[in-house]
Amino acid sequence: MTNRFPTDKFKHIETPFYYYDCNLLRETLQAIHEEARTHADFIVHYAVKANANAKVLKMISRAGMGADCVSGGEIQRCLDSGFPAGSIVYAGVGKADWEINLALDHDIFCFNVESVAELDVINSLAARKGKVANICFRINPDVGAHTHKMITTGLAENKFGIAMQDMVPAIREAERMANIRFIGLHFHIGSQILDMTDYRHLCSRINEIQDGLEEQGIEVRHINVGGGLGIDYERPDSHPIPDFKAYFYVFAHYLKLREGQKLHFELGRAVVGQMGSLITRTLYVKQGTAKQFAIVDAGMTDLIRPALYHARHEIENLSSDGPEQIYDVVGPICESSDVFAKDIPLNTVHRGDLIALRSAGAYGEIMASQYNCRRLPVGYLSDEL
Ligand code: LLP
Repeated sequence: MTNRFPTDKFKHIETPFYYYDCNLLRETLQAIHEEARTHADFIVHYAVKANANAKVLKMISRAGMGADCVSGGEIQRCLDSGFPAGSIVYAGVGKADWEINLALDHDIFCFNVESVAELDVINSLAARKGKVANICFRINPDVGAHTHKMITTGLAENKFGIAMQDMVPAIREAERMANIRFIGLHFHIGSQILDMTDYRHLCSRINEIQDGLEEQGIEVRHINVGGGLGIDYERPDSHPIPDFKAYFYVFAHYLKLREGQKLHFELGRAVVGQMGSLITRTLYVKQGTAKQFAIVDAGMTDLIRPALYHARHEIENLSSDGPEQIYDVVGPICESSDVFAKDIPLNTVHRGDLIALRSAGAYGEIMASQYNCRRLPVGYLSDEL
């Protein structure tokens, strides 16, 4: 039985729901601030796709971070949550015209452009408004990350970004466009990265690219290295705050910034991952022929990561300190992949017990769906309970 969760307060809340630990979020934001501010050229954006809960966004915007958006919906939600438009960067391979127009109307900081076809459209939409759009090209650096194959994005065969050999022609094209201002380069190699050598490889690649561009007289004012810093899913309590020091050190040490250049980061999971848990109630304990199932009221519709990526989230029984037994923890959805964990030890589970799925603050609530006509889970901040 654990004391870290306000289980008394949970008793009256309809399950399943997301619980966000505000103190941990504040400490994490503070840790990022402490590390990043030692480097005057670093600008950190929060990757909104990880968790766009309006109350969470407000806490993050108040901490002074910028925002990294991938849709008009995210841009709008960020503006509503207090992020200054001038701190918003906007990426995505398929930006629709209304989304580009929204971004232009609010004068966001920069579009991270993923193709020349998109550049053309931004140029003409900006021309109609008499505006000049700041753009960075998202370059595919062909650097692999040691992470799940579904979430690496920096390899040559990916749909994301512009291939290195197409970069200079794309920049030249941008320079010819009246309503485009080329300001820099954007990269992102993947997500849940724990091996800092992946980032060292990215730094070396960017250094090579910068040397090449310098020779051609191309000025780059902004470098954006994307996000991807991972969290410890196995030991959320011993590592609640990611090692931001080691992360920023790699870039400070290995990336050769030119005079006056700014370095942008887009961190999602590392900011919000550990502060969130999915809280669910046990509906039934079922004895199968060879297994014991704890059937809970949350399913893959509430947290899809285990079903989609075979991701593991630590699971705890918040209501029992009975002897440990082995369970498969499964949801109610009509899919055999609706399994949160197989053969894990839990304190003896009874009907009604509250179960916590940990490290679920990132890519949890925001990826929920209504499949099976389910209600979407609500997110609660610890401060409001
Ligand atoms: N910047 C770009 C361009 C991205 O594509 C992403 C994530 C980020 C920043 C933020 O990455 P982070 O710091 O959160 O790793 N749903 C998957 C993760 C997908 C990540 C997509 N891109 C999951 O649940 O693991």
